[in-house]
Amino acid sequence: MQILKNISLKPYNTFGIDVNAKKFVSVNTLEDLIAIFSSENDPQKFILGGGSNMLLTKDIDALVIHLDLKGKEIISKTEDDVFIKCNAGENWHEFVLWTLEHDFGGLENLSLIPGNVGTSPIQNIGAYGVELKDTFQSCDALNLKTLEIETFDKNTCQFDYRNSIFKQQAKGKYIIVSVVFKLSTANHKLHTNYGAISSQLKEWNIDEPTIQDISKAVIVIRESKLPNPKEIGNSGSFFKNPVISIEEFSKLQLNFKEVPHYNVSEKEVKIPAGWLIEKAGFKGKTFGNYGVHKNQALVLVNYGGATGTEILALSKLIQKTVHRIFNIDIEAEVNIV
Ligand code: EPU
Repeated sequence: MQILKNISLKPYNTFGIDVNAKKFVSVNTLEDLIAIFSSENDPQKFILGGGSNMLLTKDIDALVIHLDLKGKEIISKTEDDVFIKCNAGENWHEFVLWTLEHDFGGLENLSLIPGNVGTSPIQNIGAYGVELKDTFQSCDALNLKTLEIETFDKNTCQFDYRNSIFKQQAKGKYIIVSVVFKLSTANHKLHTNYGAISSQLKEWNIDEPTIQDISKAVIVIRESKLPNPKEIGNSGSFFKNPVISIEEFSKLQLNFKEVPHYNVSEKEVKIPAGWLIEKAGFKGKTFGNYGVHKNQALVLVNYGGATGTEILALSKLIQKTVHRIFNIDIEAEVNIV
């Protein structure tokens, strides 16, 4: 385990922001991770997973710990399902492809989401009608105070829309080191209701899709709407979709009849932030070397060389404008560092 000094974090965050870490270490084993936290050196530590859900706005004056714990194993398998344990440092999409090669069902709708397996429970990643919590069985996390491993089951994780205990009470207190998924080995439950998926399958004349077909459809849809972080720096949805009350929604409809929405409960409605941002005139707007993506207004992009502070300022301008026009507050989904 080698501790490096003054390392650029540009290759380690999907926004491609060029800030420096005072110290940097890649950790491949649980023993090394525990050793780092047992040591008195470097009291300031910063954990870096896939770097896909953060906007870095300044140099990190700490020891940056790049979690690179690799490996996955089948714990048990029956005729109907399989339990798979995957270590935190595995790339999410590569893991999804591996499950599909084995014909294990459940993660196909979550194809091509950037980031690592270990960070997936933190914000309960979701796309096309499926959330991580649907196949999540448990995760092991290192308690940074006791340096013991604790297991969190689905209930303990308190999953919600882009939210979990790891963004609330447990924030900064644990490091997720592995996740166990329960996937299907037969009679896969397919989720094709999401509009774009069914129309894509129809276009391909597929009436009885396999989980692999669904994954392919999701990949095509995502590639058409979302920029590839390897080409254009971004962090996926920058904002969460806001949830408003039925009363607020009725008022909104008076002025904007066509507003898309999903019912969350009898009292609440979710509005796509992408629509609000587009209506506010920001879709496809560029400000020098950063801006709002042309195909999906929820995504802020770094065309190369932008600073985190510039992108943060743009996000604030968007929030202010959306508030002024719609009287709705949109909250950042990415972590601002
Ligand atoms: N819309 C617009 N303009 C836009 C973007 C969207 O009018 O620029 C409208 C669309 O026409 C549609 C609605 O908003 O009526 C929903 O759009 P979309 O299906 O693209 O989904 P989203 O709500 O914008 C969410 C997730 C995405 C996920 C998709 C698909 C959040 C914050 N985002 O986006 O997640 O891929 O659904 O399930 O919940 C991510 O978290 O990084 C991410 C990309």
